[in-house]
Amino acid sequence: MNAQALLTQLYDTPETDILEQINALKAELGDQVLILGHHYQREEVFAFADVTGDSLKLSQQAAETDAPYIIFCGVHFMAETADILTADHQVVLLPDLAAGCSMADMADDEQVVRCWTELAEVLNPDECVTPVTYINSTASLKSFCGEHGGIVCTSGNAQQILEWSWSNREKILFFPDQHLGENTAVAMGVPDSDMIIWDPALPLGGNSPEAIGRAKLILWKGFCSVHQLFKPEHAETMRRNHAGIEILAHPECSRAVCETSDFVGSTEMIIKHVAAAEPGASFAIATELNLVNRLRILFPDKPIWFLSPMVCMCSTMFRTDPQHLCAALTSIRDGQITNQIKVPHEQKRWAKLALERMLNLA
Ligand code: 13P
Ligand code: SF4
Repeated sequence: MNAQALLTQLYDTPETDILEQINALKAELGDQVLILGHHYQREEVFAFADVTGDSLKLSQQAAETDAPYIIFCGVHFMAETADILTADHQVVLLPDLAAGCSMADMADDEQVVRCWTELAEVLNPDECVTPVTYINSTASLKSFCGEHGGIVCTSGNAQQILEWSWSNREKILFFPDQHLGENTAVAMGVPDSDMIIWDPALPLGGNSPEAIGRAKLILWKGFCSVHQLFKPEHAETMRRNHAGIEILAHPECSRAVCETSDFVGSTEMIIKHVAAAEPGASFAIATELNLVNRLRILFPDKPIWFLSPMVCMCSTMFRTDPQHLCAALTSIRDGQITNQIKVPHEQKRWAKLALERMLNLA
């Protein structure tokens, strides 16, 4: 049966049967398969993950596993990262190939090369600019950074990576999330006068040569559409209505939201923060809905609110459902692999270097 026919059949099967099939396939395949699950995955899929975590923890896990098959319940850039960090004989699958990340798509190859070329009109970028990319980026951009002396960061280690980068070269070009770069720099005490924004739609990113010459941090104008839905006024409302509430935010949120928050951190850091609090402590959290709902279940003694009155859900993370997970496991059992993520060899070399520079610092 081809992959599409299998999926159609699975969608006609009651969900309880699908869950049983996943359990049976996992038992049959044993150590052959490692399922990695990001915190934003829906509960029905998350429950089957062998390892759960934020992007940093999951990439460390991918670098360490010997499993011949890795199913990444997350989005495309995560599966690419796993493929880069695993050996050639290991196979990485993304259950639904349409599970992308709009932020990662905001810095394409042509724009990145044009930016570097335009910077070279003003200065020598290979001497004075460290390109840093958030892990939420294409393999091609990671490769670009590796080739130009740069590095990858995650939301869990961004400060350490900025410190490393500035210790090597005078300036940082930070891709593709303006907000993670800006929020990290603000927390480190970097003044506004040292930062500029690079809009890839404009010549010189919309900056004068003098402003580029002065800048220490050049922030690519990219963002996460999910985290941009949180607003500082949501925090004001929460504080007005719930005395003593603590506001927790992911650093992909805007600077205004992070500045009004009591704690800013990666998904893993947010979970640890809530876990460490005393019973009765209350939180309003600015990150993806599936994680906030899970925290409510995990910590019933700690009242937890979603910071925004709107539903801020990552629709591409949500694409991975039990049917797609079941199809991925079936394809491994039947030796007819579908949805394999394979980064081209020429990108792998430099992208791996950029990732290893990060992992070696951890
Ligand atoms: P972390 O889990 O690394 O904090 O990242 C959040 C995210 O947006 C993943 O796409
Ligand atoms: Fe991309 Fe935002 Fe979804 Fe994360 S939450 S995968 S950054 S769109």
